[in-house]
Amino acid sequence: MARLLHIFAHPGRATSRVNLSMWRAAQGIDGIDSLDLYSTYPRYAIDIEKEQQRLVDHDVLVLQFPLFWYSAPALVKEWIDLTFEHGFAYGQGGDRLRGKQMMLAVTAGGPQDAYSHQGYQHFELRTFLTPFEQTARLSQMTFLAPYVQFGALKEDPAPHARGFADLLRALRDDRLDLSRAQQAQFLTHDTLPLTEGAPT
Ligand SMILES: Cc1cc2nc3c(=O)[nH]c(=O)nc-3n(C[C@H](O)[C@H](O)[C@H](O)COP(=O)(O)O)c2cc1C
Repeated sequence: MARLLHIFAHPGRATSRVNLSMWRAAQGIDGIDSLDLYSTYPRYAIDIEKEQQRLVDHDVLVLQFPLFWYSAPALVKEWIDLTFEHGFAYGQGGDRLRGKQMMLAVTAGGPQDAYSHQGYQHFELRTFLTPFEQTARLSQMTFLAPYVQFGALKEDPAPHARGFADLLRALRDDRLDLSRAQQAQFLTHDTLPLTEGAPT
């Protein structure tokens, strides 16, 4: 079983529909460590050593957040800035994350067709996520395709939340087809590349 760290970051948890449903769906799953980043660090006073140890102790990092201005909410950036330190995540002696996996679980208000050259967001969603992808690469982590809900203000959150729980279980049990999960542009609840094996 993989040791899975699930980090949830939403500054407006009380008004969240989709991310809160995902968070709740994740709570019932055994063998997964979940952290609500904004509740843990409401004043952004991140405990760097604790967070680095958390990363060392896990094989898979799932970062879950709503897309805010084409990126993550600010505390996610702060958490990465402080924990992915030189000598820890990259640079001389910085190999503590080598071989681990990173996956984003992102919700976007814009519809899928907006995220194209012809659409009003003008770029593919993956283009906006390249800083995370390259952060993983520099840290010698494998970056998996993000799990995405487009049209997050309108769509029914339930299938996406159920799919998120399926995804977390599959990551925990090594049942996600990693080559397909690396090659895909993004994953959705009905395109999860699961390998054969007994679901739990
Ligand atoms: C400050 C802010 C910035 C946002 N920026 C984007 C954006 O860049 N692209 C997008 O598709 N949606 C954007 N949205 C919409 C959110 O992504 C959407 O409200 C969220 O994914 C819905 O999830 P929730 O129900 O968990 O809050 C933004 C919302 C806020 C409040």
